[in-house]
Amino acid sequence: MTQKDFIPRQQPEYKASGEVTWQSPSNIALVKYWGKKENQIPANPSISFTLDNCQSTTTLKYSRIKEASKTSGFDFDFYFEGKAKQDFKPKIFKFFERIEKYCPYLREYKFEIHSENSFPHSSGIASSASGMSAIALCIMHLEKELYPGMEKDYFSKKSSFLARLGSGSASRSIDGGLVVWGEHKNIPGSSNEYAIPFPFEIHDIFKNYRDTILLVDKGEKQVSSTVGHDLMHGHPFAENRFAQAHENLDKLIPVLKHGDTTEFIKIVESEALTLHSMMMSSLPYFILMKPNTLEIINKIWSYRETTGIPVCFTLDAGANVHVLYPENHETKILEFINNELVVYCQNGHYICDQVGGGAKKL
Ligand code: DP6
Repeated sequence: MTQKDFIPRQQPEYKASGEVTWQSPSNIALVKYWGKKENQIPANPSISFTLDNCQSTTTLKYSRIKEASKTSGFDFDFYFEGKAKQDFKPKIFKFFERIEKYCPYLREYKFEIHSENSFPHSSGIASSASGMSAIALCIMHLEKELYPGMEKDYFSKKSSFLARLGSGSASRSIDGGLVVWGEHKNIPGSSNEYAIPFPFEIHDIFKNYRDTILLVDKGEKQVSSTVGHDLMHGHPFAENRFAQAHENLDKLIPVLKHGDTTEFIKIVESEALTLHSMMMSSLPYFILMKPNTLEIINKIWSYRETTGIPVCFTLDAGANVHVLYPENHETKILEFINNELVVYCQNGHYICDQVGGGAKKL
């Protein structure tokens, strides 16, 4: 499917009003998306685990605008956790502008958008993946009402396509399990336009992997992802990094099939550290890890060395640490976290999550 396939061709069967709620999860990348081209096209393919507990719940209320009361812009109000939020509006406005070509019915409706997150607002956990994918899914529900008979596959691909235009990583939050976004020569069906479920065999060990998120720094992001991605333009190591992401995805295919945790750990930790190396070697440069991030990484390494338990870490564009491990080691790892790592978390906070089944309509 290409961009053109996402422009509706029939006449819509307008509905007067309605309402829908979607719950959409966050995701954690194993091979990272860092760097993009025009129109939210990723500079390299990425793969993530869809999470389960960290999610956004979004309700979209829509009512058709009478011809006489139409304004020139988009007509919507946004509420976050029950309160009107003006500062989110420009982001949604920009999103509507980007998707209007593919959703020509947007100006026909007045919208009320209500959103909330299951994770604390100031946790340093990015809400753009879950938030943007939830809005995209609600809009696709409306589209399905206007163009009845829409295929399931079209619904999920276009939801991911729209979510991507809101935030790149949001494209990976529609489907569950392992999700790939970005063209890769050895991954059939992979696309820069939308994400797809990882199309190969997955060993049982990776089907319910655990992700305990250690909240090292709950503050606002020091570098917005938009600024971060931009730093890859003209970055001296950019081309090598993009090539490395392709190679790492290639390497992950047999690793995920055979449940090879040793190789999995090498790829995942190297990806996390490379992401941060890219930030440290860009101009301007940033260090987003905190001393406690490093303390945690070192503790994980020595715990793994002494116990042989295949626990590893990954990082987002921030100081928090995602601790990844197989389900059967959960008790031991939670004990380790409580005994040795919790002291490095802000106010002792961490969030227990795991691989989830993808977005759900409520
Ligand atoms: C480090 O998806 O937040 O989490 O497309 O500008 O909204 P925008 O960026 P965003 O970038 C996420 C970057 C990352 C890695 C990843 O999730 O792959």
